[in-house]
Amino acid sequence: MTPNKSSILVTGGCGYVGSHTVLSLLQSGYKVIVLDNMSNTSCSAATTEPEILKRIKKLHCGGDQDIPFYAVDIIDKQALTDVFTLHPDISTVIHCAGLKSVGESGRKPLDYYHVNLAGTINLLQVMEDFGVRRIVFSSSATVYGDPPKIPIPEDSPIVASMSTYGRTKVFLEHIIRDLCVASEIKQRDYVLAQEKQGAEIETDYRWSALLLRYFNPAGAHPSGLMGEDPQGVPNNLMPYLAQVAVGNLEKLTIFGQDYPTKDGTCIRDYLHVMDCADGHVAALAKIEQDEAAGLYQCKAYNLGAGTGCSVLDMVHAFSKAVGRDLPYVISARRAGDVPNLTADSTLANQELNWKAERSLEQMCEDLWRWQRKNPRGFNSQPLE
Ligand code: WQD
Repeated sequence: MTPNKSSILVTGGCGYVGSHTVLSLLQSGYKVIVLDNMSNTSCSAATTEPEILKRIKKLHCGGDQDIPFYAVDIIDKQALTDVFTLHPDISTVIHCAGLKSVGESGRKPLDYYHVNLAGTINLLQVMEDFGVRRIVFSSSATVYGDPPKIPIPEDSPIVASMSTYGRTKVFLEHIIRDLCVASEIKQRDYVLAQEKQGAEIETDYRWSALLLRYFNPAGAHPSGLMGEDPQGVPNNLMPYLAQVAVGNLEKLTIFGQDYPTKDGTCIRDYLHVMDCADGHVAALAKIEQDEAAGLYQCKAYNLGAGTGCSVLDMVHAFSKAVGRDLPYVISARRAGDVPNLTADSTLANQELNWKAERSLEQMCEDLWRWQRKNPRGFNSQPLE
C-alpha cells in the first residue's frame, strides 16, 4: 500500500531560515521531519533534541508535538537513505542545508563544492531512489551577480562569477533543472512503453522543483525565542549589528561608502525571516496545486520585499529599534559585493500568492527582542 505521503523533510531545519520554515510548516498543518548536521548553530547536537526544536515545539503547541530529528550531514548518503527508510511518508523536501558564508567559501572552495554540490546530489539521488520527486530549494539572489536591471526579475541572467558560494547556488539550480528535464523524458518513454504493452500508467517519474531565490532574510520570530544564531563573528550585516547592540562586538564596519547609490552604501532587499518562511509554505501549495492539474515544472521565484534599503538605512532603522545610535566606521569595499540587489517579486506575488507582509520596523524590533533576550544565542538560556 502506498504510504500516506504527507510529511515534509526540512534539511538544515535547525538553521536560521530552516527553523523558521519548520515553525511555519507546523502552523500550516504539515507534519515535519528535521535533518541538520548542527554545524552552524550553538545548539548542542549531543542532546537528543536541539534547543531550537524545543523552542519550536513550545511556540507551536506547548511542547508536546513530535518532530522527528536526525543529526545527519547531507554528505553522508547512507545516513540520508536511513532517514528515508524510516519515513516512507516523506512527500517533499525543503532543502536548506548547506554552507552559506560568501567570505569563507573563497577560502574553502572544496568544502563548499563538497557539501553544497555533492551533498545535494546525494540528497537528489536518495529522493529519486525513494520516489520523492518534489523539492523546494534554498537558492539566493547572489545568482544574479551584478544584475543589469533593478528591481531584478527572475529572467535576469544568472552568473557564476560572484563567489564560490554563489557559484554553488548557480550550479545547483542547473543540476536541479537538468534533473527535471530528464524526468520529463523518462516519463515520456515510460508512457510510450506502457501504451505499447497496453499496460496501465502507474508511476509518474516527473519532478517538481521550485527554486526560491532568497534576497536578504533578516529579523527573528516575534516571540524572541528564535532567531539567527551564527557561529563566531557574523558575516552578515544584521546579525553583526545585533551583536554590536548587545555589546558583544564594539562597532560595525561598513564595507564601502563609494557605491553608485543614494548614500554610497550597498542596497539590499531585506525581508522578514517569517515572510521568507511563509514563502516555503506557499511554494508547497503551488507544487500541490500544479501537480493536481498535471503540471510538473522547475521554476525560480524571488523571495524579496521589493524594497531596497542601504546599509546606512539599516543601521539607522535598527538603532531606532534599539533606542540608541549604534557605532560604525567606514572601511574599504568587501570583495564580491555588488551595489544593489533588490527583487522584483511580482512572479511570487502572482503565482505563489505570496508577498512580504512584515515591515522593516517589525524586522528590527523582532531582531532586537531576540538578541537582547538571547545575547549568546541558544546557549543563553536553555528552556527548562
Ligand atoms: C549586506 C550588506 C555588505 C556586513 C550574502 C549572500 C546571500 C546570503 C546573505 C546566505 C552588504 C554590508 C555586511 C558587515 C557591512 N547568504 N555589510 N558590514 O552579502 O547581501 O548576501 O549573505 O544566506 O546569499 O550573498 O548579505 O548581510 O553579508 O551584506 O557593511 O559587517 O551589508 O557590504 O552591502 P549579502 P550581507
